[in-house]
Amino acid sequence: MATYIGAIDQGTTSSRFIVFDRTGRIVSVAQKEHEQIYPKPGWVEHDPAEIWRRLEEVISEAMEAKGLRPSDLAAIGITNQRETTVVWNKKTGQAVYNAIVWQDTRVADVLPHFAAHGGQDRYRTKTGLPLTTYFSGLKIRWVLENVPGARAAAEAGDLLFGNIDTFVIWHLSGGVNGGVHVTDVTNASRTQLMNLSTLQWDDEILADFGIPKKMLPEIRSSAEVYANATFAPVAGVPIAGDLGDQQAALFGQACFKPGEAKNTYGTGCFMLMNTGEKAVPSTCGLLTTVGYKIGEKPAVYALEGSIAITGALVQWLRDNLSIIEKSTDIEALARTVNDNGGVYFVPAFSGLYAPYWKDSARGVIAGLTRFVNKGHIARAVLEATAFQVREVVDAMEKDSGIALDNLRTDGGMTVNHLLMQFQSNILNKPVVRPVVLETTALGAAYAAGLAVGFFKDTDELVANWAEDHRWIPSMEQEKRDNLYHFWKKAVTRTFDWVE
Ligand code: G3P
Repeated sequence: MATYIGAIDQGTTSSRFIVFDRTGRIVSVAQKEHEQIYPKPGWVEHDPAEIWRRLEEVISEAMEAKGLRPSDLAAIGITNQRETTVVWNKKTGQAVYNAIVWQDTRVADVLPHFAAHGGQDRYRTKTGLPLTTYFSGLKIRWVLENVPGARAAAEAGDLLFGNIDTFVIWHLSGGVNGGVHVTDVTNASRTQLMNLSTLQWDDEILADFGIPKKMLPEIRSSAEVYANATFAPVAGVPIAGDLGDQQAALFGQACFKPGEAKNTYGTGCFMLMNTGEKAVPSTCGLLTTVGYKIGEKPAVYALEGSIAITGALVQWLRDNLSIIEKSTDIEALARTVNDNGGVYFVPAFSGLYAPYWKDSARGVIAGLTRFVNKGHIARAVLEATAFQVREVVDAMEKDSGIALDNLRTDGGMTVNHLLMQFQSNILNKPVVRPVVLETTALGAAYAAGLAVGFFKDTDELVANWAEDHRWIPSMEQEKRDNLYHFWKKAVTRTFDWVE
């Protein structure tokens, strides 16, 4: 009998294959980065063929490393960077254009046209999302409008659209030789083309955006068998889970009750709160989205605060300014000073996401004096993450009417004690990290395991969750208020930069 579950985690900067045991512990893992392509300011692309190659490599590596055979895996779950848009030819398997990444702002110029009737929140009631550059719908439209021959081919039924989950499942289940074309409700809820109540594609929005329905995948639940894998190292294993990465982290953190929330610190930061079987509209700048749907059970919704740039700012400091050599060096550099020296760094590189949704904002470093050194900049970079999360937590508490006792965290940046302590200080709440930090991949594994009966129910998953570390607030209220006041002031300096 199979003893493990496999999870594909295809993120913004890298791809991983992780094999978990029944208790959620990692048995084997392999990871590879892929190229970030920046053709113009504000444009971000990935090569979909490279992503699939990297996945083939990491699956093979992780299976070989522990001598695993397909029969050792009960199922495979997929989790992915959300919104990133791929359009490919179903006969050749070739993408007609690079994947347009969620952070890409190229559709900003058409937003006023679509917002002219009904404003930025024109599609909020149906989709839970404001009109902005973030979601997939307008990215698909861009491909159809700008890639020669794409519209005609799409209308002829030759092209398929997929977020990365769909693209991966299609390849994993045979590609041109019978690959299935499916997505799940969580990924579909980020296209701005799915109606949150019906969980189906919305004909009216498709007509507005000019997107032929025949290129869209079938929307399925997050935990069911979609197909069997055909890729040799995992051939025959059921592909049985599919969740966008932030929803997968909610699942992996076992936030199954309304009011339970998690915050993932990655390229960006994404806080999701389970709101149960009710889609709660936001009036404070959050998104309403699908949290998960287990098989035939009703969908569970979530409120989400999305922040585009957090960990990516540390990478920017490393790659664009060479102030640090490795991302992890930031903590030591930030510890060379006692405070931010009056500096605030607002990384509005892709505009501002929650709670502002301002596409025309651009980044600023505010409060510079000759006193400031690179230690202060490093500190301001870390604090930027914590301040942005505070803004989202404030909005979440207002929208949900629930005061969070503590903040459940995961993701790469949670290894940074300076950041986590500052996060706790600026929130005035305990910040908690679980033992298994790979909650995203774990969530996909859990969904797949539930679908094939490897796990009995969600109670079994809740029992797997264990606390690893807790940061307790230790800052005076006056200091907290003062820091947050200047952060808010710095944020206003980013507004309306692009004219
Ligand atoms: O919405 C974008 C999000 O899904 C990306 O997550 O972890 O790949 O940066 P990540």
